[in-house]
Amino acid sequence: MEPRTSAEVGGMGHSLKRKEDPRFIRGKGTYVDDVQLPGMLYLDIVRSPHAHAKIVKIDSSKALAVPGVLAVITGQDLAKYNLHWMPTLMSDTQMVLPVEKVMYQAQEVAAVLATSRYAAADGAAVVEVEYDPLPVVVDPHKALEPGAPVLRTDKKDKKDNHIWHWEWGDRAATDRAIAEADVTVKQDIYIPRIHVASIETCGCIAHFDKVNDKLTVWMTTQAPHAIRTVFALVAGHVGLAEHKIRIISPDIGGGFGGKVPVYPGYVIAVAASVLTGKPVKWIEDRMENLQADSFARDYHITAELAAKKDGTLTALRIKTLADHGYADAAANPSKFPAGLFHVCTGSYDLKAAHVEVDGAYTNKPPGGIAYRCSFRVTEAVHTIERMADLMAHQLAMDPAEFRMKNFVKPEQFPYKSALGWEYDSGNYHGALQKAMDTIGYAELRREQVDKRRRGELMGIGISSFTEIVGAGPSKHFDILGLKMFDSCEMRIHPTGKAIARFGTKSQGQGHETTYAQILAEELGIPAKDIQVEEGDTDTAPYGLGTYASRSTPVAGAAAAMAARKIRDKARKIAAHLLEVAEEDLEWEPGKFSVKGAPGKSKTIQDIAFAAYTNHPQGMEAGLEAVSYYDPPNLTYPFGSYICVVDLDSGTGEVKVRRFVAIDDCGNIINPMIVQGQVHGGLTMGLAPALYEEISYDESGNVQGGSFIDYLLPTAVETPKWETGHTVTPSPHHPLGAKGVGESATVGAPAAIANAVVDAMWHLGVRHVDIPITPAKVWKLLREHGVTE
Ligand code: CDP
Repeated sequence: MEPRTSAEVGGMGHSLKRKEDPRFIRGKGTYVDDVQLPGMLYLDIVRSPHAHAKIVKIDSSKALAVPGVLAVITGQDLAKYNLHWMPTLMSDTQMVLPVEKVMYQAQEVAAVLATSRYAAADGAAVVEVEYDPLPVVVDPHKALEPGAPVLRTDKKDKKDNHIWHWEWGDRAATDRAIAEADVTVKQDIYIPRIHVASIETCGCIAHFDKVNDKLTVWMTTQAPHAIRTVFALVAGHVGLAEHKIRIISPDIGGGFGGKVPVYPGYVIAVAASVLTGKPVKWIEDRMENLQADSFARDYHITAELAAKKDGTLTALRIKTLADHGYADAAANPSKFPAGLFHVCTGSYDLKAAHVEVDGAYTNKPPGGIAYRCSFRVTEAVHTIERMADLMAHQLAMDPAEFRMKNFVKPEQFPYKSALGWEYDSGNYHGALQKAMDTIGYAELRREQVDKRRRGELMGIGISSFTEIVGAGPSKHFDILGLKMFDSCEMRIHPTGKAIARFGTKSQGQGHETTYAQILAEELGIPAKDIQVEEGDTDTAPYGLGTYASRSTPVAGAAAAMAARKIRDKARKIAAHLLEVAEEDLEWEPGKFSVKGAPGKSKTIQDIAFAAYTNHPQGMEAGLEAVSYYDPPNLTYPFGSYICVVDLDSGTGEVKVRRFVAIDDCGNIINPMIVQGQVHGGLTMGLAPALYEEISYDESGNVQGGSFIDYLLPTAVETPKWETGHTVTPSPHHPLGAKGVGESATVGAPAAIANAVVDAMWHLGVRHVDIPITPAKVWKLLREHGVTE
């Protein structure tokens, strides 16, 4: 699509360089740890070596003797103020600091407050804690067995480790369709526990100003307003009222869902600052971040897919066990304990589907966050895309042909899925065809046949995913009761320059650039003349924040709506200036002209000046508007990815030879930023497919708690991504745009897994769980007689 605005204005469709980059590239960003306040104190946290143990005694005497250490804070101290437990985003409860027992390895046990970070760390090293170990439950299946030790003994009536059961869809119709099917495939799929591992770890500075009774917290949060409200609700009883709380979320070095929850360190820092009246800084280190912050995934899935002999899909049945650790601290909309997992029919026109999920407590850190994913969509996509490949192979159909046969057709949109979602728009055939043409699919299949003859292992994997982003219509979506709308407030200054503030918070996605482009598109004010601000609750309008690719679908729409309100007022001022009726004016980006007399016009800058100097009698001065946008539906971006792998039969190594990604996020605001989002997203999809996992041994010891064991792909492991797009606008979004930030992370793992299984299908291999390590492949090859 050709941009409607000039390069000078820089509206939608222009690859504007990111406004934020000059400060990042020069090292001039302001992250939480860059903030230094006079008299600041520091916290360090003592963590449990046990996964489940009673706390017999905490001896702080040696720590208090360390020069610079001021206090050792324990659960007993917080209990005096009823702050030792806090609510989670899923209305469960989680410890801030324990009073009786610890529930996972690396759990916070006590906090040391000191005049320097080093003194705090020295103090933490000598706090002596006596533990009495308890039986550890690591496997969620065992957690649900009768007689398993009950973990949440704090809940009086809790007699087991079952958190909740949730199901969706038509069970009877699905059971019937599966019983009557010509062909069925069934597979257990484990999607392991992983961690977002953002470059910047979590942290905060809490500063309680005792004179003004005001708490300011600089923190690495993706949702500053929601945090402010939660703080006010949780700590109202100790005098923290919402108008006296200011959350500032400065530059953030990657969030990916991991900076949505409230972590105990934040609460301890606030409590310490309220008690001392001093600013208190808490910044976790890398190992604390990996071992104790919220995890993602950890779904144990059994899926069954049914089809007719001719390959037409009929039904999908899924049962899942969700390991939530010791508390359900998932960041999900409250009505959906398993997030949007029930988008699991994916891109296929299935007539019947049923999904059920059970949550279980185990001795692991709490969580269930959406790692660059719209609330469990990655789990859904991975399942349906693996199952689609299994079925295609089972039917001896080409996986691409099988998908083309079963896709929802373009003319079926808006499409109501068997599990009740209304997909807004899509052209799945177009995206897959483009991916096949780009990669040379037919030729690759011929090459594969030749290679198989020579005993070489080459695989081709497809993932044709449908995403669901932009939560949400507030009638369905809330977090802790807060409706999931978002906001933009724009003010145009007399000289035609502007400021716009949002309820979202960028963590590297380039909002300062793309929101300015949306406003430039709507008003014709150059994007460079529009300052975008987010992340300060004292100035920004209320919004639910940035995660789950909701910024463009929700706050981006709010920007367009606020700009349109401003344009309506600008039209009245232009009519007054040009002495014509409003109906006699026509708009083109940047100016109103008199119909039939194009020479008679007023630019948006002329109008802005008049709004303060020469506005019509009876009209309020100024040119500003605010919009709180409640989307009528979610947006459904999609894409088709094709991956080619070669397996080393000696070592089991998977080499990604080519990866073509065709994405469709509707109308694009900034093509360069979208490409960057897809590149980063693909690498974050490669990571869990081949490398990342946090696992636990039987005693609950974390494996994968440092970058020695938790493998992040670097540039060396990352293949060259070949990207492209199709454009299918969203019919309900004011700009026709859909989100894109997480698409690639959601779609990529299945393409890689499908390619690896495709390379070994002829040997009898049907499935391999991610991460597909060389050891797993080598073992399969050995079992199937390829290697010794
Ligand atoms: O919520 P989050 O910012 O993570 O996700 P998003 O809405 O998908 O946007 C990620 C970045 O891509 C933002 O800078 C968007 O403005 C940009 N984008 C775009 O340029 N065009 C689209 N159709 C979608 C997103």
